Amino acid sequence: MEGNASNAGSYPPVVRRAADLRAACDYAREQGGRVAFVPTMGALHSGHLALVRKALSLGSFVVVSIFVNKTQFGPHEDFARYPRNLEDDLRKLAPLGVRAVFQPDADEMYPPGEETRVRVGALAEPLCGRFRPGHFEGVATVVAKLFGVVGACDAVFGRKDYQQLLVVRRMARDLLLPVSVAGHAIVREADGLAMSSRNTYLSADERARALSLVRGLDAAARRFADGERSATTLARLAREPIEQSATSVDYIAVRDADTLAPIDRDVTDRAVLAVACHVGSTRLIDNVVLGEDDAPLAPRGRAEVAGTPG
Ligand code: PAJ
Repeated sequence: MEGNASNAGSYPPVVRRAADLRAACDYAREQGGRVAFVPTMGALHSGHLALVRKALSLGSFVVVSIFVNKTQFGPHEDFARYPRNLEDDLRKLAPLGVRAVFQPDADEMYPPGEETRVRVGALAEPLCGRFRPGHFEGVATVVAKLFGVVGACDAVFGRKDYQQLLVVRRMARDLLLPVSVAGHAIVREADGLAMSSRNTYLSADERARALSLVRGLDAAARRFADGERSATTLARLAREPIEQSATSVDYIAVRDADTLAPIDRDVTDRAVLAVACHVGSTRLIDNVVLGEDDAPLAPRGRAEVAGTPG
């Protein structure tokens, strides 16, 4: 390990070897500690840091991984230009008291000759699964490897990547991994845009147009709160502003919040309204769980965001 393990305020130790991280997590558990884990691809923003804070509330030994996982990117996606800045990331994590930052090389996660993949079934097929073939296989594979290294822990994932959260939860259960997967609410910028490492790609004009996602979700969530239950109507309300501003729309869909199965008629108690579109060349996603989340631009929602430190 590099760095100082104990002091909040100094850079967290960087661990590059899986065996070293496994030993550190084993030792923490032997000492009676509880391991909590936040997997990331770096370019950390306040959304990631909120996940880390939640992890700190769940465990005494918090591990953050930073690994831009090539297998989850399509051949024409942004793997090469994905933002990478370990120094900045460590600086952001320093005040939080993270006990280890796992930053492996690609060879460490995918040893020479590797040929094993984890594929999750129906949950990984719709929505982003249709538009990003192989994406969730890459995610499930790397997260299974990371869970294997970290061992028994509470892992925290953001609901911004709603389908990813469900896929990872399913994978951990199906592979009998000793990991409990917690979700964290979407953290938004002051104007409502969901935070994302990819927001840095947006020009000023695109950044303004990107707000149509949250406006669409907000309009639908408000109507839902007023009693509208037709899935078609709710999707249409979201679609109107988004279609005006987006360069292209992958999907705007109302789905069962647990299975992601289509909802053809009325929403009963809860459903996820999920959006993926391109603004310029940047792919953005966002969602709201109708019947569970506040409308994303509602004053209470904004106050919660304003109260989210970091
Ligand atoms: P990354 O995009 O870096 O996201 C890491 C975690 O932060 C994910 O759980 C994601 O849902 C969460 N997150 C990102 N933006 C958020 C926001 N605005 N509010 C709340 N949570 C947010 O997701 C990945 O990396 C990768 O697929 C990974 C799981 C690390 C596997 O490679």
